Amino acid sequence: MYSTLLTLHSYWAFLTLLVLLFASFNAITGYYGNRNFAMGKDLRISLFALIFTHIQILLGLILYFTSPYFAMWSEGGVMANPIARLILVEHPFTNILAVALITIGWSKHKKQEASKAKFGKIALFYTIGLILLLSRIPYSNWLN
Ligand code: HEM
Repeated sequence: MYSTLLTLHSYWAFLTLLVLLFASFNAITGYYGNRNFAMGKDLRISLFALIFTHIQILLGLILYFTSPYFAMWSEGGVMANPIARLILVEHPFTNILAVALITIGWSKHKKQEASKAKFGKIALFYTIGLILLLSRIPYSNWLN
């Protein structure tokens, strides 16, 4: 169960980050290029990024309680150990915050009428979300 979840969470992370990068880039170029926000292409790219990040959070939540790191809460010393603190505190909290911002960006873009405003909301919230996610990935453990 644990190793399957870890593998899923590791590979899904690649897809999530790629789709999110693509959605942010698409929104930034749409904003600065004054493109029309297409309900087919642009809406779908942003929606895919939203769905991928939500699936990743769900996988992460289950992984959290099945990971051997979780036992360190009862052993103590989590905050004094940089890798345990990253995995048990910083990674989950920052990533939940990042996905909350992405979700806010998604709902804010829906309330806008103008294409530029739609792209603007996605560009801002998705890019901040992406930066937050990238800032707290346990890179030293990833696929090692
Ligand atoms: C979009 C959000 C997220 C991304 C992109 C992400 C990405 C990653 C990556 C790349 C790893 C390293 C995997 C490896 O060692 O091969 C990881 C580990 C982990 N993630 Fe996430 N994660 C996200 C959200 C979360 C959330 C919300 C939680 C918990 C509530 C979580 C819990 C964990 C745990 C516990 C590990 C370490 C598991 C272990 O090594 O035993 N993740 N995550």
